[in-house]
Amino acid sequence: MAKIVLFCLLSLLACAAGQRITTIHLDGVQYFISRMNPYSPELNYFLAYQYCRSLGLQLASFETKEKAESMTTYLKNAGYGNYDFWTSGNRLGTGMFLWMSTGLPFNATFDFFENSADAIQAGLLDPVDHNSNTSPQRTARDSSGAEKGCVILKQPTLKWMPEDCSAVKDFICEQTRCYYYNYGSIPVSSAQG
Ligand SMILES: *[C@@H]1O[C@H](CO)[C@@H](O)[C@H](O)[C@H]1NC(C)=O
Repeated sequence: MAKIVLFCLLSLLACAAGQRITTIHLDGVQYFISRMNPYSPELNYFLAYQYCRSLGLQLASFETKEKAESMTTYLKNAGYGNYDFWTSGNRLGTGMFLWMSTGLPFNATFDFFENSADAIQAGLLDPVDHNSNTSPQRTARDSSGAEKGCVILKQPTLKWMPEDCSAVKDFICEQTRCYYYNYGSIPVSSAQG
């Protein structure tokens, strides 16, 4: 199941070091799990993001219940249930939780937060407040977003938990695609107006 991939086309960093990285395919998504790679350091949220980008990947987002469940089940079965992992989730911009890699808000149909207060802030538990103009989702008033502003899978349950973005953790990268737009790119040259 685990697959060794040479990312020479995707990663200048890994290639410059002649480094092999191990990724997995789980339910059709390719993931890099830092804990599976002995040379991959634990990093803070920002450096974890940068590390994923250097591999041509992004920090993982969990936009469906199935995807979140299959990852936590895999991590536990593979013996990685005793580590914290960064996801792409954060509330740094507005106090509302967003998946940074996809730009999407958290999926309101399920709640994997460890604490209900965080689920409420993410708009997952209180649909009345979710639709009101004073909900956290509609205002940028939360100046404390930087404190515990980034979302980890928290051991041992691997439920979602906000953590200080500067904390040093393992992390999960994934290959993401944009499912929602057809960009309709127009080929141009730099000489064209
Ligand atoms: C939200 O989660 C449900 C259950 O996993 C899924 O069917 C649905 O597609 C998700 N919505 C989005 C926008 O991903």
